Amino acid sequence: MGKHGFGIDIGGSGIKGAPVDLRRGKLADDRFRVPTPQPATPDAVAATVREVLDHFKWDGVFGCTFPAVVQHGLVRTAANVDPAWIGTDAHKLLGKATGRDALVVNDADAAGLAEVRFGAAKDRDGVILVSTLGTGIGSALVMDGCLVPNTELGHVEIDGHDAESRAADSAREREDLSWKNWAARLTRYFQHMEALFWPDLIVVGGGVSKQADQWLHLVDVRTEMVPAKLLNNAGIVGAAVLAAEQGGGKS
Ligand code: BGC
Repeated sequence: MGKHGFGIDIGGSGIKGAPVDLRRGKLADDRFRVPTPQPATPDAVAATVREVLDHFKWDGVFGCTFPAVVQHGLVRTAANVDPAWIGTDAHKLLGKATGRDALVVNDADAAGLAEVRFGAAKDRDGVILVSTLGTGIGSALVMDGCLVPNTELGHVEIDGHDAESRAADSAREREDLSWKNWAARLTRYFQHMEALFWPDLIVVGGGVSKQADQWLHLVDVRTEMVPAKLLNNAGIVGAAVLAAEQGGGKS
């Protein structure tokens, strides 16, 4: 594995990328961000991904996150993205649009792997659940360093609701919830996760983990729960590491 890889994070508002120092799990240069094209159709997004790679003159294989189920490069769901993505072969699309080999993975899986390798769950064995709280709730389930991809634990049904519609950070903002009221919803959500998976450690990521001191202590769970460490860069780092280790996805 070379010293540097390249990761891109496709989000609802921005597409961000940077070269990554694979040994340290850190960005090797300032990241470059382009607003996500609207509508965020596959072709428009692919052109933006190319722009990010061109900015750094990166020619090699790259990793790319996507906020949906991505099974061997095939996008299967579209909870918070343009529905035109469903059924798209993202490896083929990005390979063609950029002229480089791409490995496309679920955003929470990439972030979770980065936290396990370099962040809040470094050197921890056992069952680790990484939850990203943002527009939706993403999940990464890792056992002794090995990722089970596409777990989609934000979409379990709790009290008759899709869990992320009540407990994601977007629900807190939309309903103007106090930290205390939002934490009560997180308690309900994470107690459910505990009952199903009995994790050894829960890592909570997403932008709101920066303010963990406001709410994390209000979440009532038995499992050790810690904020993520790589914050904004977890997806980029995780995607770059996976691409360097597995190579571009062939489809
Ligand atoms: C999607 C997941 C994604 C998560 C975070 C959910 O709505 O279904 O695939 O990881 O949002 O972006």
